[in-house]
Amino acid sequence: MRVLLIFCLFLPLFSACQNTSIQVVPQPLRVVEGEGVFQLLSSSRIYYPESRPDWQLAARAFADVAQSGAGFSLPVTPYQSSVVVNDEQSIYFLPDTTIASEEGYVLEVRQRSVAIRARSAAGAFYAVQTLRQLFPPELNSLQPQRRDNWTATCCTITDAPRFGYRGLHLDVGRHFFPVSYIKRYIDLLAFHKANTFHWHLTDDQGWRIEIKKHPKLTKIASCRTETIVGHNSDQPTRFDGKRYCGYYTQEEVKEVVEYARQRFVTVVPEIEMPGHALAALSAYPELGCTGGPYQAATRWGVFEDVFCAGNEQTFRFVDEVLSEVCALFPGPYIHIGGDECPKTRWKTCPKCQARMQAEGLKDEHELQSYFIRRAETMLARHGKKLIGWDEILEGGLAPSATVMSWRGTEGGIAAARAHHDVIMTPTSHCYFDYYQSNDAETEPLAIGGYLPLEKVYAYEPLPDVLQPDEQKYILGVQANVWTEYIRTPDYLEYMLWPRMCAMSEVQWSAKSRRDWPGFSRRLEAHLARLDALQVNYAKSIYDVKGSFSAGALQLNTSAAGADIRYTTDGGEPEPQSMPYFAPIVLNSSATVKAAAFREGKKLSKTFVVQYQAHKANGKLYVLSGQPDKFKGTSEFALTDGVTGSLKNWKNWVGLVNRDFDPLIDLGRQESFEKVTTHFLVNTGSWIYPPRRIEVQVSADGKQFTTVAVQNIDTSNLAGNRIEEMVVQTPGAKGRYVRVIASTFGVIPAGMPGENNGAWLFLDEIIIE
Ligand code: ACM
Ligand code: ZN
Repeated sequence: MRVLLIFCLFLPLFSACQNTSIQVVPQPLRVVEGEGVFQLLSSSRIYYPESRPDWQLAARAFADVAQSGAGFSLPVTPYQSSVVVNDEQSIYFLPDTTIASEEGYVLEVRQRSVAIRARSAAGAFYAVQTLRQLFPPELNSLQPQRRDNWTATCCTITDAPRFGYRGLHLDVGRHFFPVSYIKRYIDLLAFHKANTFHWHLTDDQGWRIEIKKHPKLTKIASCRTETIVGHNSDQPTRFDGKRYCGYYTQEEVKEVVEYARQRFVTVVPEIEMPGHALAALSAYPELGCTGGPYQAATRWGVFEDVFCAGNEQTFRFVDEVLSEVCALFPGPYIHIGGDECPKTRWKTCPKCQARMQAEGLKDEHELQSYFIRRAETMLARHGKKLIGWDEILEGGLAPSATVMSWRGTEGGIAAARAHHDVIMTPTSHCYFDYYQSNDAETEPLAIGGYLPLEKVYAYEPLPDVLQPDEQKYILGVQANVWTEYIRTPDYLEYMLWPRMCAMSEVQWSAKSRRDWPGFSRRLEAHLARLDALQVNYAKSIYDVKGSFSAGALQLNTSAAGADIRYTTDGGEPEPQSMPYFAPIVLNSSATVKAAAFREGKKLSKTFVVQYQAHKANGKLYVLSGQPDKFKGTSEFALTDGVTGSLKNWKNWVGLVNRDFDPLIDLGRQESFEKVTTHFLVNTGSWIYPPRRIEVQVSADGKQFTTVAVQNIDTSNLAGNRIEEMVVQTPGAKGRYVRVIASTFGVIPAGMPGENNGAWLFLDEIIIE
């Protein structure tokens, strides 16, 4: 025993030391395992207090799970003033005012009964979400599963959420998701103890909610003529030529709101203003500064045509829309957007300028603030509070606004310091439209970025620069799913899960209860539940990641305790392949393939890296200026033997409007015949070819001789492509080699990013 204990202290990841039978996501506050098991029977009953009808929702929630997964029709029975918890293999719901947390609960699983105590029905509902995780994962199935018995380990779980606002957002403006799917989305977020669904209902590409007073919003603004194909930055731009439409009727909205209520989820609708309004303007062009005509956008981005802030008609429209919206959504908040509103049109619009004069507004930011304050006043008449993205801080914050901090945490910090409520949702940790794997070649197309599971998990929503009395304004955390590239429910689930599992611990679990290795193990048990629910989750947690450093390949995986096996002959890795223990030193060009395994089962996709051996492999180099943002995977990025790819930029090193001039120390005098490099051309992303490449050599690192110069034809700027440059250097010899790739310079007029400095991307300096 002593030996095992010591072993556990040193190896906290070792599975025998973990509580293996109780694996709940999000991690509860306290779990005490008991003796024996509780068996759920087809004759089990569920008792709830008759005096608290909302508790029936929690009781029914468990009955529905038992019906769906086990095929048991458990009676849900009200009791009058009290009930004796003792027998029948039954489940008892018991209001308990001694529980401090409004959404907290105590779940006691005994051999002959389950008792759920909570202060509110919401707490009882969260106890059910925990209880369903104590049974075999198949209990969560969408169709009844055959099993001899359905047992849960006896335990006492005491739990309460860390944050009161636990949100998940969905953009239905870019792509529309039907009510049937919205319901499943709400089921899944409630299963993870989130309590707010932020429904982003309007955008440049589509208006998705029926407004009776303005029927053209559904007749015209709910459609776009076609949709861009591929990434927004691809050149040339292509469209699918297919009309795309969709909206929710007010009856459907009510159905969703009621469905959410029954799962203790509040719906926060978002109606975007004054920007992201092109679809609305396509129906009511008189509300724009120029009067149009306008068309709902067919590509992604930020558009200059926005609501005119000088025209009283705009405010009448906003008021009428918000009045109908307020009547449909019983929750306290209405989100009015406020993000990404260019001021271009306002600057030249006589009405907007006249408004600024009349109101004494010193610039267009103050005009935006004026717009938001008027919306706030309209909402207040209906007893609603305004939420906006953090741009609503610019030009002065509306007096009672809640700020959603997305461009980072600075907006949230500033708002909390000004004693405004804040919801944290920074892109860095909360944007699930970003890639979750850095193996972008095999991932579905995403907007960009890189937000792996570990990074979501590591998010700490309370900035330590805030004092405790300021931190209390941070109501909670939200994950956002923007759907430019996410066209279908399967695609959406792939982007969302399991990152939302990690987010649920950020939202719910006590800070002291969060630990990545523990989560990574619990998640494996939890994925079996998501399998039962037929969720199309991503398996990126198990990805093998690799990087070269000093000429050796390091591999790792985030799946706690998994083995990595690899091959260097191009064969698929198998459970019997070479185990990975230490960085792999490669002496010749090779294809390395690796995968994560547990107990002989392959957990991950195959990681593949092509290694090209050459004279500069693993050699250090210096640049006269550090790379801008794109730094490659290590300080050996340009000599690691790995070239870049089109979709995945992790192996490229990028500089803006500066020459690349790596000076490589080969360690001794070497002869070489050619230098090869690649550059990326993607003018949609401001990436341009170099104008010339020069190779210099030196024996001492001081005196350099130019051995070759090659000019590059930069007339072809089309497409998204990689070009190879081979510079012949017959008879060249030196210990030091400097390669100078000169910048394209300023982006020409008429091109995306015109007048800015062009990027130059190189991947490798191959010396042979
Ligand atoms: C946002 O992502 N534009 C709020
Ligand atoms: Zn205007």
